[in-house]
Parts: sequence; C-alpha cells; structure tokens
Amino acid sequence: MQAYHTEVLLLNPFTPEPSLIERAATLLRTGNVVVFPTETVYGLGADALQPDAVERIFVAKERPFSDPLIVHIATSTDMQRLVTHIPSQAERVAEAFWPGPLTIILPAGPRVPHIVTAHLPSVAIRMPRHPIALALIRAVGSPLAAPSANRFMHISPTTVHHALADLNGRVPLMLDGGPCEVGVESTVLDLCSPVPTILRPGGVSIEALRTVLPEVQLLPKRTSSQEDDHNTEHDTAQKSPGQMRIHYSPSVPAVLFEGSEAFIHAAMQAEIHKQRAAGRRVGVLVADEDRAFFEQSGALLYAVGSVTRPEEIASRLYAGLRTLEDARVQIILCRNFNEHGLGLAIRDRLLKATGGNVYREEASERPQG
Ligand code: TXA
Ligand code: MG
Repeated sequence: MQAYHTEVLLLNPFTPEPSLIERAATLLRTGNVVVFPTETVYGLGADALQPDAVERIFVAKERPFSDPLIVHIATSTDMQRLVTHIPSQAERVAEAFWPGPLTIILPAGPRVPHIVTAHLPSVAIRMPRHPIALALIRAVGSPLAAPSANRFMHISPTTVHHALADLNGRVPLMLDGGPCEVGVESTVLDLCSPVPTILRPGGVSIEALRTVLPEVQLLPKRTSSQEDDHNTEHDTAQKSPGQMRIHYSPSVPAVLFEGSEAFIHAAMQAEIHKQRAAGRRVGVLVADEDRAFFEQSGALLYAVGSVTRPEEIASRLYAGLRTLEDARVQIILCRNFNEHGLGLAIRDRLLKATGGNVYREEASERPQG
C-alpha cells in the first residue's frame, strides 16, 4: 500500500470554503481517496464511477471486497443515473428523508462498477445532509462511494481525530468538519425486497419511516447457528452484509447489561468488582443518570448522555467506546438504553460492539471474559 503524509484541512462545517473543497475535489477527480464528514460518521470517499479509485478505499481500510459500499449523491437526478428504475417507495422516502441519514437499496444500473456493489444486483444510495459532503460531491461532479473512515471491524469515526487514529498515512487528505451530529450510521432500507426492509437501523428511526412507508419491517432476526457462522461471513457478498454480528467492535472485550436499572447497577457493580480483583482495568459506558452510582466504583467512567435523550447518546456513543479503548481498559461494561427512536440503532451498535455478549436480568449465566 502507498504511504502518504496525511494532510488535515479544517473547514467551516456550515459554509465550507470553496477553495478547500476544490483541493479535495481535485484529488477525488484524479482517482484518489479523501476522508470527509457526513452528519452520521466520517466517510472515506472515492469517485464511485472510477473502479481503480474505489479499490483504494478497500486497500486503505483493509476491507474485504465482498462488502459493498454506499454511493453518496447530491441531487435526486444523480439517483436516476445509478439505477435501472425508481420504485414509488423510493421517491416517497427520498422526498421525506433526503438529504439525511437514510440509505436505500435499489436495483443497480449498468454504470455502477461491480467493485462498488460487490457484484450484487443492487446498489446502496444516500444523499447526506452535511454541507461539506454535499459541496464535495457537487464539486467532484460525480457520486462518491464512501464507507465509514475506520479500519475494517473497528468503530466508525465521529471526529477527524478518530479517522486519523485509524487511517493516518493511508490517505492523502482528511477534511475536518468537527464532530458528527448524528453519531451512528445511516439507516439502510432495502427497497428491492417485496416488503421494504431495514437491513441496518440508523439515523432515521423506524417510527419515522413508518409515517411514509407503513409496511416497513425490520430484518427478521437471524438464528443463532447463522450468527455463529463467522468463518463464512466474508466469503461471498450477502443480502445484508451490515448484519455481520461482529462489526463495529472496539479492540477490547465488552459486555452489554440489560434489564431494570436496579439490576444493571448491581450486576455491573459486581462485575467491576470481579474484574478489578483479577487485576483488570475496567471501563464503563453509562448514562449521565448513572454517574453518581459508579463514581466510587474504581472503573473508568464514560457517560454518553441522558437516558431521556437518545440523540445525545447516539452522538457520543462511538467517542465513548474509543475513549475507553484509548485509556487501555481491558474490558468495557455497557448498559442498555430503551429502544425508541434512535435507541434501536444504539442497541444494534452496542450488540455489535459486544459481539453479542449480553448479560440479561433473566439469564442465569454470567458473561464470559
Ligand atoms: O452513515 C453511513 O451510512 C456512513 C456514512 C459515511 O455515509 N457509511 C457507512 O458505510 O456506514 P459502511 O460501508 O460502513 O456501511 C454500509 C452498509 C454496509 O453494511 C454494507 O454492507 C451495506 O451498507 N450495503 C451496501 N450496499 C449494499 C447492497 N447493495 N445491499 C445490501 N447492503 C448493502
Ligand atoms: Mg462501516
């Protein structure tokens, strides 16, 4: 892989400087990759219509070619050029949620390179609402393929510092637009299946989607035998590749605690005790309301926000996991939150971060690790 001196440009996130956008656009037009902010997480972009440029994304991230990319557009007419046809459902959700944190899966047109879709017959499309992302796509004059700007299997970046931690020296340029507003990735909605199906919960809630598409469903839960089948996960492109169980994981083991608040407090406290007795440094990811309870616990505390504000929790979730990881804790204990609105995406990411290692109130066995 080519080594770069990674340059970071600070931009105004509301009215990005045209001269700085142009510098990034020139790199992208000539087949290079650039890290840029979106309202969800930072993306690692390349011109979606240049296969060699898109290949550089996979190399920089060490991402398997079997995992397809989202194509980012700036106008609805860009969508027409990427698909064979636009179902009326797509028009309705695009009208309601674009620009914004919603990705829709549509039948791929012949112009979309196979490297983008991992040879699937469908393509993922999203119109982000971040002014830097929109200005960049317009300046390049071509849609941008962009996964999250992290190394494969790591947590998505919500600041340029997170992206630098993973990709410094692997890309020529990063645009710094400050922290991402939403903080979890876009909702991926499959409009190629008979019933519109959410493949990945994200920044647009299922409740919001149902106001436009009442029939929308969540991807049926996979059986545990499918979930345990890690070895074959990357061998072929799958219908819902984002559903890989271990995906957004920090590099330290993590456990999710679920149940009543009293249970969570007691169980987490007991686990902190046990881990510390074994000489391990423990990190806990909790709500603002839990601060007082854990203050004296001896664990490193990261409070992601109030239980009453899922937007706040989502926007700080990945920074919290990275902060604990950087502090070199040896295990991270996370509490669950309710599943309304963005809560569904938060729970999904916590399940992925913990690799499904959940300690439930009704369960009798203790978590491993
Ligand atoms: O918010 C986001 O979506 C961020 C920002 C940068 O836009 N991007 C992002 O990209 O999260 P990535 O590559 O980390 O996740 C894209 C997800 C993956 O789970 C991928 O497998 C899925 O979308 N995907 C892409 N194309 C697909 C397709 N044709 N069919 C089904 N799933 C697809
Ligand atoms: Mg990703």
